[in-house]
Amino acid sequence: MIMSRYADYRNAFEGIPKPFAFLDLDLLEQNIRHVLTLSGSKQIRVASKSIRSREVLRRILDFDPKFIGVMCYTATEAIYLTENGFQDLLLGYPIWDTEAITNIARKVGEGNPITLMVDSIEHVDHIERIAKQAGCKLPLCIDLDLSMDFMGLHFGVWRSPVRTVTDGIRLAERIASSSHVTLDGIMGYEAQIAGVGDANPSTKLRNQLVRYLKRKSIRQLTAIRAELIHALHAKGIVPRIVNGGGSGSLSSTCTEEVVTEVSVGSAFYSPSLFDYYENYRFQPAAGYAIEIVRRPKANIYTCLGGGYTASGSIALDKQPKPYLPEGSKLMPMEGAGEVQTPILYHGSEKLQHGDPIFMRHSKAGELCERFTVLHILSQGKVIQTMSTYRGEGRCFL
Ligand SMILES: Cc1ncc(COP(=O)(O)O)c(C=O)c1O
Repeated sequence: MIMSRYADYRNAFEGIPKPFAFLDLDLLEQNIRHVLTLSGSKQIRVASKSIRSREVLRRILDFDPKFIGVMCYTATEAIYLTENGFQDLLLGYPIWDTEAITNIARKVGEGNPITLMVDSIEHVDHIERIAKQAGCKLPLCIDLDLSMDFMGLHFGVWRSPVRTVTDGIRLAERIASSSHVTLDGIMGYEAQIAGVGDANPSTKLRNQLVRYLKRKSIRQLTAIRAELIHALHAKGIVPRIVNGGGSGSLSSTCTEEVVTEVSVGSAFYSPSLFDYYENYRFQPAAGYAIEIVRRPKANIYTCLGGGYTASGSIALDKQPKPYLPEGSKLMPMEGAGEVQTPILYHGSEKLQHGDPIFMRHSKAGELCERFTVLHILSQGKVIQTMSTYRGEGRCFL
């Protein structure tokens, strides 16, 4: 008899007190293989903000030699990872705190490769001063803005002021002329391609508009990135890293000749924000279970907890998504609550008090901020737990 995934999961996780978070290792492996295929000849840097578990990070990195390192999100996280044997760490975002940069300088001085992100002369001056005091040379990566302005719309994120090839060259030359910092990389994150879904069945017109903007933006950003790298090469400046993309831009970023590596995080857990992309079929590998504790009406099953809403602009897609049993829905007036989450369900499963409802977070790593462990499922059985950063007493952002 073929059982539903809901019944499989309910049986496999029986006895584990809810709420709990889980990771389906078989689906994670499918996602890893999909990422490997999509990335072609490019190396892959794992975006740890979307993983937030040392053990899971290690598992992905050990899967294939194309996984070359980690894109970290804070200095303390980078130090934590380096002290736990992780190599080739790139901070994806600038930091300013003097003590944090001094700590990084100490680690780099001891031979641990950690690259800091910069986007301005101010960043370089500040880091240079600290590196000089620490008596070391710090590797830097320039964040190149790849957003697009089109008919009054800013298609992309507000991060780096390095917008043009001239801006990039100026900053690269400033770094190259220093004895205390060195240019290790150029990163450009095309958020408007990687982080925007374009195949939501309920917004067909919007999908068409987004795809049009994506095509236009890809042409533009590919040209800027190539022009900057070629110009730097012509000046004898050859950064080791040319990093681009994210989970949702693999198919375009990996066609860019100058790109040496892509950053990938969300694709591994594949949260609900990644359900609707034209070019990707990632599997829902991670989620959490909440327990039915009351039944106010025939088809309404109210669960304890569950309200783990994601960061970002306030919109319905930041809500967690009822996943299993299929056909479960949040109630629009209540959503997922701090202590109670009513689920509307009209399907064929016979649900009772104590049964789980499986949910998916809208974003990948934020799930791990709510749980100390992930229960690891493989071949229909729970085989182990893996600690999250929180479970190790760490809370980086
Ligand atoms: C700098 C940078 N690179 C890459 C990514 C892509 O990460 P993910 O694959 O988790 O979407 C992000 C996500 O926000 C990012 O900020």
